[in-house]
Amino acid sequence: MKRVITLCILSSLAVVTQAHEGAEGVIKDRMDRFKANKESMKAIKGNLGGDASVIAKEALAIQDWANQMTDFFPEGSTQSPSEALPAIWENFEDFKARAAANANAAGDLANLARSGADASALTNGFKALGKTCKDCHNDYKE
Ligand code: HEC
Repeated sequence: MKRVITLCILSSLAVVTQAHEGAEGVIKDRMDRFKANKESMKAIKGNLGGDASVIAKEALAIQDWANQMTDFFPEGSTQSPSEALPAIWENFEDFKARAAANANAAGDLANLARSGADASALTNGFKALGKTCKDCHNDYKE
C-alpha cells in the first residue's frame, strides 16, 4: 500500500516536471504558482455547494499570489517555454491593475465564504474571480 502511494506521488511529480520542462528560475517559479492557482480554482469550484472553509482558504492563496505575481515578471522574461507576451512590459501599469483586480476578486470571494454566503452568491463570486484570470490571459498570455 505504502509503495503504491509513493508511486502515485512520484508519477504526479513527473507530470509537473514534464509540463515545465526547460523552464528555469523565475519563469519556472511563476508557472508553478499559476498551476497552483488552477488547482485552487478547481478546489473552489468543487466546494461551491460544499465546504466554505476550503473556498476561503484557496481564495486567500490566490489573493496572496496575485499580490506578488507582478514581481515574477522581470522585463523581457519570455524565454521558452514561457507563454508570457511582450505586451506585458509595454503596458506594465495595466498588467499590475489586472493583477490587483484578481487580488480584489479573490478577497471578495474569501469574504463571502467566511460570511456564510449561499451557493449562488459563492458561484457569482467564483465567476467574477475567474473572469479576472481570463481578462489578463486574453491580453498577456499566448
Ligand atoms: C495579471 C495577469 C494574470 C492574472 C490575473 C492571472 N494570470 Fe495566469 N498567467 C498569466 C501569464 C502572463 C501567464 C504565462 C506565464 C509564463 O508562461 O511565463 C499565465 C499562466 C497561467 C497558467 C499556465 C501555467 C503553466 O503551467 O504554464 C495557468 C494554469 C494560469 N495562468 C492560471 C491562472 C488562474 C487560474 C488565474 C486566476 C485565479 C490566473 N492565472 C490569473 C497572467 C495572469
